[in-house]
Amino acid sequence: MKVIIAKNYNEMSKMAANFIAKEIKEKENITLGLATGSTPEGTYKELIKKNLDWSLVKVFNLDEYIGINGEHEASYRFFMNQKLFNHININKNNTFIPSGIADPKIEGPAYEKSIEKSGSIDVQLLGIGGNAHIGFNEPFSEEYSTTQEVKLVESTINANARMFKNKEDVPKTAISMGIATIMKAKKILLIASGTKKAQAILNTIEGKITGNVPASYLQKHQDVTLIIDEEAAKLLKK
Ligand code: GLP
Repeated sequence: MKVIIAKNYNEMSKMAANFIAKEIKEKENITLGLATGSTPEGTYKELIKKNLDWSLVKVFNLDEYIGINGEHEASYRFFMNQKLFNHININKNNTFIPSGIADPKIEGPAYEKSIEKSGSIDVQLLGIGGNAHIGFNEPFSEEYSTTQEVKLVESTINANARMFKNKEDVPKTAISMGIATIMKAKKILLIASGTKKAQAILNTIEGKITGNVPASYLQKHQDVTLIIDEEAAKLLKK
């Protein structure tokens, strides 16, 4: 794993945007895997400023809440439209996010098929949960999991409650790419910022590979870069 330490959130965002921009310039019809959450917001802002040509780019997002549709302000479809897609020249038909209102038993395999049809994901951007979840793959996720319905743990529900009017409104389940789906990407870029991610980052990079720390599976991937800020890196020993 290649670890790059940025001074702070802004520098992390700029570095991550540069990383992705370089990939888009090298391959105009690239397939990106993208993520939601507060962490990538700065990266998307920086990417928008770059005025890149997104006309041939395809995007597959990691996950979506179950039970809400894309018009819901807390949905990940709404987030992606607001934070990125509405500001770039991407063809919205080339943006894929698992549906939160379809039957996940059908939607999961269908999502896998559409990723396969596009070839594969060239670059997958990831954030990380405080408990080291990636996508919505919570601790004890199966290494060989594919896109499927997943249960959210209490700490994730609490962390994401800020996006909803009431904590009770936060869905208890989501549909998420699995660990195996993520591992199939050719390149992975994980970004993290702040002390609340420091333990998860330590376990991901220096801990043992275990389902208890879903992001630790990334140690097995050939091409992973982590761009993290000093606060998120503060527990690293090596
Ligand atoms: C959610 C998303 C993850 C994201 C995580 C961290 O659970 N499903 O993809 O990495 O939140 O979010 P934040 O960046 O807001 O800390």
